[in-house]
Amino acid sequence: MNSEIRFQLTDHSRISEVDFSNIPFGKVFADHMFVADFDGKQWTNLEICPLHRIPLHPATMAWHYGQAIFEGMKAGINQDGMPLLFRPYDHARRLNISAQRMCMPEFPEELFVEALKELVWLDREWIPRDEESALYIRPVMMATDEFVGVRSSDHFKLMIMNLPSGPYYPKPVSLFVEEKYMRAAEGGVGFAKAAGNYGASLYPTKLAKEKGYDQVMWMDAKEFKYVQEVGTMNIFFALRDKVLTPDLHSGTILDGITRNSVMSILRERQIPVEERPVSIKEIAEAAERGELMEVFGTGTAAVIASVDRIGYHGRDIMLNPANWKLSGMLKSEINGIRSGRISDTHGWITPVRSTVTA
Ligand code: COI
Repeated sequence: MNSEIRFQLTDHSRISEVDFSNIPFGKVFADHMFVADFDGKQWTNLEICPLHRIPLHPATMAWHYGQAIFEGMKAGINQDGMPLLFRPYDHARRLNISAQRMCMPEFPEELFVEALKELVWLDREWIPRDEESALYIRPVMMATDEFVGVRSSDHFKLMIMNLPSGPYYPKPVSLFVEEKYMRAAEGGVGFAKAAGNYGASLYPTKLAKEKGYDQVMWMDAKEFKYVQEVGTMNIFFALRDKVLTPDLHSGTILDGITRNSVMSILRERQIPVEERPVSIKEIAEAAERGELMEVFGTGTAAVIASVDRIGYHGRDIMLNPANWKLSGMLKSEINGIRSGRISDTHGWITPVRSTVTA
């Protein structure tokens, strides 16, 4: 493999067009991107270049058969102007877990992190200073053979983009417990960040929105009893004496990196966390007894998103996130570590010092 990255830098930065005091999620793209091609044998044509559109044949396989995966990660910047990547090796590992399940080539972890460092260094002026915001980094890998017929593609493209971003859910979210449609079944691809998982969620989400909820709370596909995840996030329920979150054993739930960070922070503070099957009935009963203290989703984009209402069996479980301590502490801790305000005792931060493009 020729792992040398070629550089072609923009001569016209678009940064002056951006209002950093109001950055909608997912719409603003930084100047550069990383691109690499898999030629059937190896990754090649590694390049960092100005963000651009890519011409694709109508028979590009990713579109027809869904052989496409992605990642979502973040970078912050500390007081000294040093970019900080949050858990990049974990994201590299998860990208490759998704790749394996979707019959796609793995990308070498070290090279992935090197590409991220170069790209984030070049776009460092795009990293929002406000701690609630961050540079959202979106790697995406897609099948690029031009072929009609179901088989794995031989050729693939990996691209990485940078998006300065504000919060994904600026307000608390309401959730509808979905008992007809499912997100993932055992043996499927629920644990992978496969593009199709998100495509399949759109119609049930539209129906939930028509009922007045923001997002769907997904149940297990066999009995519709056990909670899997919500919208684009993992889910946590804080009861009086412990915190519950669905375990990953069924292979239907994304192994969230923010989920993992949250569990580490809770355990470090001796707050008991139980990772196990969590039935929605148990949650509804805890709410009735007045023991459901906080409910929050976790995800890279969302960080920590409070839940203020859960629609279940025609009734609403109402919650009042205004003064929640636990989710507030978790959000502040994660945002603080990512922005360098809180020192990283977990080894989650990879600082970007200077790079070959410096
Ligand atoms: C993330 O949290 O990074 C995600 O991938 C969720 C979403 C933006 C699709």
